[in-house]
Amino acid sequence: MKFFIDTANLAQIREANDLGVLDGVTTNPSLMAKEGIKGQEAVYNHYKTICEIVTNGDISAEVVSTDFDGIVAEGKKLAAIHPNIIVKVPMIKDGVKAMKWFTDNGIKTNCTLVFSAGQAILAAKAGAKYVSPFIGRIDDGGWDGVQLIEQIARIYTIQGFETEILAASIRNPLHIIKCAEAGADVCTCPLESILGLLKHPLTDIGLAKFLEDAKKFS
Ligand code: G3P
Repeated sequence: MKFFIDTANLAQIREANDLGVLDGVTTNPSLMAKEGIKGQEAVYNHYKTICEIVTNGDISAEVVSTDFDGIVAEGKKLAAIHPNIIVKVPMIKDGVKAMKWFTDNGIKTNCTLVFSAGQAILAAKAGAKYVSPFIGRIDDGGWDGVQLIEQIARIYTIQGFETEILAASIRNPLHIIKCAEAGADVCTCPLESILGLLKHPLTDIGLAKFLEDAKKFS
């Protein structure tokens, strides 16, 4: 399973990248806005900087147009920023049409705002490289986001779809573990959820004891 970080914060991207286990970055308009980035040139430069930090991974950059022509024009500009850019397209009718156009024209896509297996089938049919079910937001509504990952994984296996399941809207380390069990190809996570995987009190207690004992022979 690949690990992506879900942020536009450069310090957090650097920290996750330095850990050596990062395979990519996802962003969205809300995450870009949170960093206070304003204007198209600044946004595009920010994507370029992210690509220069994570040199060996896929970087999702989201379109904000909602009509076919607009999505295609915007996606072409985003894809031209860097070869590692993946154009993130919302699961809407013109989005599906645009994803098929991108697939036919050699531009990779990440289909975002996916909340059902039917939407995931459409994304795969359009040739998306990634499909992003938002599991945290599904949980927020009282459903089970991990169950959706399992269902999509079953369908993709039966049908031989090559689209990778990118579990998004991850809120905690347990989400990551459950998504790994459910067959997600990628988890995109906030930095604290990735670092949360490190934590176990017995590790801390065990290390303290080892270091204490090491003093006896050093
Ligand atoms: O990748 C999508 C993700 O950023 C959404 O997360 O926490 O806003 O539901 P959240």
